[in-house]
Amino acid sequence: MKLPQLSDIPAQHPDCCCSLSKTLITKIASLLPTELGLALSIGSGTGLLEALLLDYQSTMNLRAVEVSKAVNKYLPGDLMETVNGTWDLCKSAHDAGSWIFVYPREIGLIKRYAQVCGQGSTKQVIWIGPLADLKEIQDSYLPPAIWKREIVKDCGLSDYETMVLWTRLDLKIE
Ligand SMILES: C[S@@+](CC[C@H](N)C(=O)[O-])C[C@H]1O[C@@H](n2cnc3c(N)ncnc32)[C@H](O)[C@@H]1O
Repeated sequence: MKLPQLSDIPAQHPDCCCSLSKTLITKIASLLPTELGLALSIGSGTGLLEALLLDYQSTMNLRAVEVSKAVNKYLPGDLMETVNGTWDLCKSAHDAGSWIFVYPREIGLIKRYAQVCGQGSTKQVIWIGPLADLKEIQDSYLPPAIWKREIVKDCGLSDYETMVLWTRLDLKIE
């Protein structure tokens, strides 16, 4: 599928839940240095955002996971993983340095990933969603004793959306 041309102004696209802009792509790419290893986009939908990231930075170590490969339109099949249902977790999450959740339908998915896979190599979690959902994200999902939580400013989303970044307090990028 042909990728849309982005501008600096966040704009909706039918194949992605979040608004898209050049600023958003460069911001996410800047949060995913190769030193952090695999970035796993959990619930990638059509894969448009992920394909735009790879188009911007072809060396990015990015994979995506979905419940069915049938929803994917933009990503090469070999970058896709599948789980058995919305309740299921992807095994690659254990080895991923970063998890990305863009408009997850169920916010508790982050909690389940953190409980089951969050002990190992995962150093940061990026969440993008509507501002209105922010209050549903509880600190207990990613405890403040282990994770620093911040709102990423000027990230190229629309005013009604936000990006949250959790970083493990012991993160050291060498
Ligand atoms: C609201 S859509 C967002 C899709 C995409 N991130 C976007 O912004 O356009 C949520 C997606 O999460 C997927 N999903 C739900 N539970 C999942 C799970 N446990 N693992 C992977 N994907 C899941 C759904 O199939 C759906 O495509």
